[in-house]
Amino acid sequence: MKTQNVSSTAPRAPTSDRSDRSGGVKPIIKATGLVKRFGKTAAVDGLSLEMYEGEVFGLLGPNGAGKTTTMRMLITLLAPDAGEIVVGGFRVRDDAERVRNLIGYIPQERAVDRALTGREHMALFADLYHLPKAEGEERSAWALHMVGLTDRADEVVANYSGGMKKRLEIACGLIHRPKILFLDEPTLGLDVESRTVIWRHIRELKAEGMTMVMSTNYLDEADQLCDRLAIIDQGKLAALGTPRQLKESLQGDVLSLTPENGDSSVRERLTIALKGLDDVVHVVHRDGAIELRVTPSKTILTRVLDVVNGQGVRLEAIQYTRPSLEKVFIHYTGHQIKDEWA
Ligand SMILES: Nc1ncnc2c1ncn2[C@@H]1O[C@H](COP(=O)(O)OP(=O)(O)OP(=O)(O)O)[C@@H](O)[C@H]1O
Ligand SMILES: [Mg+2]
Repeated sequence: MKTQNVSSTAPRAPTSDRSDRSGGVKPIIKATGLVKRFGKTAAVDGLSLEMYEGEVFGLLGPNGAGKTTTMRMLITLLAPDAGEIVVGGFRVRDDAERVRNLIGYIPQERAVDRALTGREHMALFADLYHLPKAEGEERSAWALHMVGLTDRADEVVANYSGGMKKRLEIACGLIHRPKILFLDEPTLGLDVESRTVIWRHIRELKAEGMTMVMSTNYLDEADQLCDRLAIIDQGKLAALGTPRQLKESLQGDVLSLTPENGDSSVRERLTIALKGLDDVVHVVHRDGAIELRVTPSKTILTRVLDVVNGQGVRLEAIQYTRPSLEKVFIHYTGHQIKDEWA
């Protein structure tokens, strides 16, 4: 059962884009009011999203949240029960073929053929897109280079590690140089080193100007790779923004000061002075420290230290903590992203 822990005084979930991008820039993908039901399950339940050119947009949510279903609708593979999707100016419903030419898709699960070499795989995909032989070979070489597989391209896939197989899948999705690349859980089940390599390729593709939409249920991946994130839960949008905006929306940066002198009168005096500062939301005493919940601002640390010095108090320790994306997720969905037994 889902439990809500969002108090009535909590900041409203940001579900509209507050970044500069919305200022007059047309989205490259616009989905409005998407709904997809499987029997009684509403896999996607009224989702509206916009993605902008050149960004890495993340769909972050737990297993079963509706990420793959959303992606499959965006890429023309699944017809929505309701809603409208426009990709690169074309309505998916009317112009699926044109949309397909603009996009590449790396599915969550694709069994690469272990008997073929990497390069043979690429040739297969080049055929799928009806590329002339020379063009296919040229693009295949580029895509294999992009994912760092040039040296291993003529080995059979059976010899590849899990991370290499995933990189080959990404190369396959790149063969027709798509404008937009969709990656469904690109690092699922990979070891740390392979994940880092895939992250590097995603950053390189972004630097080449590619727009990417990726799904993940890894919080660190979402935090480090995505320019903007949609937190999806039970088919609905729970929050939207840059990782930084989402963290700041909690208004929960915590500044902890431990005075050298544990004297309670010192702490009381300091507490009263600190409460008077702008951007200090709340002050509590915890384990000999004074803990301030502050609204993030460039000057808050300096102003707090000015007060501390003005009161003649010397500090033994000082700590500044910003809420993690995990806290953000819990705040907006009321539960953790991973099941406890997962
Ligand atoms: N073809 C299908 N038939 C029936 N139910 C489906 C089908 N595809 C998805 N669902 C259901 O829709 C819901 C959303 O599934 P979806 O695969 O979109 O989630 P997800 O966010 O991609 O999850 P995961 O992180 O596990 O990949 C789930 O309850 C799933 O069981
Ligand atoms: Mg999925």
